[in-house]
Amino acid sequence: MERTPLFQLDHVSVTYRRGALTHQEVRAVDDFSLDIFDDETVGVVGETGSGKSTIAKVLTRLENPTRGRVFYKGREMKSLSAKSLFNFRSEVQLVFQDPYESLFPRHNVRKTLEVPLRLHRGGGKAPSDSDVAELLDLVELDRSILEKYPRELSGGMRQRLSIARALAVHPKFVILDEPVSMLDMSIRAGILNLLMRLKKDEGISYMYITHDLASAKFICDKMVIMYLGKIIEAGASGQVLDRPAHPYTMLLLDSIFDLKRPGQLLELPEREELESSMSLPRGCHFHPRCPYATDECTVTPPAMTTLDGSHAAACYHPLQESRSGSRSH
Ligand SMILES: Nc1ncnc2c1ncn2[C@@H]1O[C@H](COP(=O)(O)OP(=O)(O)OP(=O)(O)O)[C@@H](O)[C@H]1O
Ligand SMILES: [Mg+2]
Repeated sequence: MERTPLFQLDHVSVTYRRGALTHQEVRAVDDFSLDIFDDETVGVVGETGSGKSTIAKVLTRLENPTRGRVFYKGREMKSLSAKSLFNFRSEVQLVFQDPYESLFPRHNVRKTLEVPLRLHRGGGKAPSDSDVAELLDLVELDRSILEKYPRELSGGMRQRLSIARALAVHPKFVILDEPVSMLDMSIRAGILNLLMRLKKDEGISYMYITHDLASAKFICDKMVIMYLGKIIEAGASGQVLDRPAHPYTMLLLDSIFDLKRPGQLLELPEREELESSMSLPRGCHFHPRCPYATDECTVTPPAMTTLDGSHAAACYHPLQESRSGSRSH
């Protein structure tokens, strides 16, 4: 029998209106389709403004799709019953990028964790100190910080506290929106290791949102690469990273692994104004930056085409060889 995905995004688009007088439209997400199963960690990778946080908002009902539909466990999100919604709120949690803004400054550590612990039990008796302490243990924070306030904690400790707060309701799926990008390099690895441990020991899956392919590789089973609101490549992490098919994915990889092999990828022009989501290029959104663009790329957006199993890319001229071997076109 076919499994029902935890989330199913079906041709989702989100358009924001900007400017009361000009009625400018920003197409933040454009025809985004993705199935997410409850035992997989999916990375959403793309540059700033590509629509990653908008996807997180759609999945947590902070934003409604302008077009398309979102299903949670097979039911359309907008018609979830009150009971399903209560379950949804404990099963799916969101951790934000900025641990400085996402914690309530007047709540100390104890209170920060007590509130969701109590909610999860449907109100009533306050959680015991040992319930709170167990959560601190889970994210490897010392129990001695119970009475401290967010301002007294370091960035890394705050992010661990944000993660503990999300875990208080025993979620199955946690959406992590750039969880380490505001932290010092030196403490990123510790948080990523913690997330990996929680994935293994607690059976939690993630949507891991990032602009950094290296960290996505570390944590994700599969990934989607976004460019100006669209998925341009998707597949198992190994497939996407070892055999990138879309020139944009290749560009991301080169900027990370710094492959300076001569003749591999042409110098790409800087991102230009015309590419902002407000005035998207016709055809493939990436064509103004793409060294391989031909006439057809400027007219009709390429559809996602399967390359190998779950590996797919939206490109008329996908790269064909593995990164380790020679590449052809
Ligand atoms: N509330 C809003 N009103 C108007 N435009 C918005 C709104 N939220 C997002 N946008 C626009 O939608 C596009 C996608 O934004 P989004 O925040 O989803 O991108 P992102 O990939 O998360 O970027 P970043 O890496 O900077 O966090 C951007 O052009 C952004 O300016
Ligand atoms: Mg964002």
